[in-house]
Amino acid sequence: MNDTPQTPYQILGEDGIRQLCDAFYDIMDTLPEAAGVRAMHAADLSPMKDRLADYLTGWMGGPPRYADKYGTVCMTTPHEHYHIGPDERDQWLLCMHRALEQIQASDELVEMLTVPLFRIADAVRNREGPSSAANNPDIIAAG
Ligand code: HEM
Repeated sequence: MNDTPQTPYQILGEDGIRQLCDAFYDIMDTLPEAAGVRAMHAADLSPMKDRLADYLTGWMGGPPRYADKYGTVCMTTPHEHYHIGPDERDQWLLCMHRALEQIQASDELVEMLTVPLFRIADAVRNREGPSSAANNPDIIAAG
């Protein structure tokens, strides 16, 4: 029997995912480089912390909380009214990587999440522009 954690959900647990989402939106709220993406959101980020935690719980291999509450895991529709190009995507990812640092995620976990996070953030992108994937052979090779 292999007791090594296999999924980000198993590594972080419910509390860790909640801490990550709290840190993510607190960083978005204060980081000057994320001002553009912050301005797209409502003044109160608390409901977003709950929704992202629900979403990431399922996405990271745990129970499908977002799907159970909202009936879908599609992220295209909730984002379609926002202009999300490479800059917005990269600001979002910057907040997520700073949040992972803040909760002291292990190198192993960060490595496990880096490419999937890029992929989901790039899938939410709905405007064209230069993709950093085009300049990053590691991301292409991982496909
Ligand atoms: C790529 C850049 C992204 C931008 C600029 C962005 C921006 C936004 C904005 C403006 C909202 C609405 C917030 C509000 O109502 O105040 C939203 C909702 C949401 N976003 Fe993102 N987002 C991005 C990527 C992502 C990704 C990659 C995920 C998941 C891993 C995600 C998860 C969510 C969730 C769960 C909601 C709530 C949807 C709902 O239930 O209505 N977002 N996002």
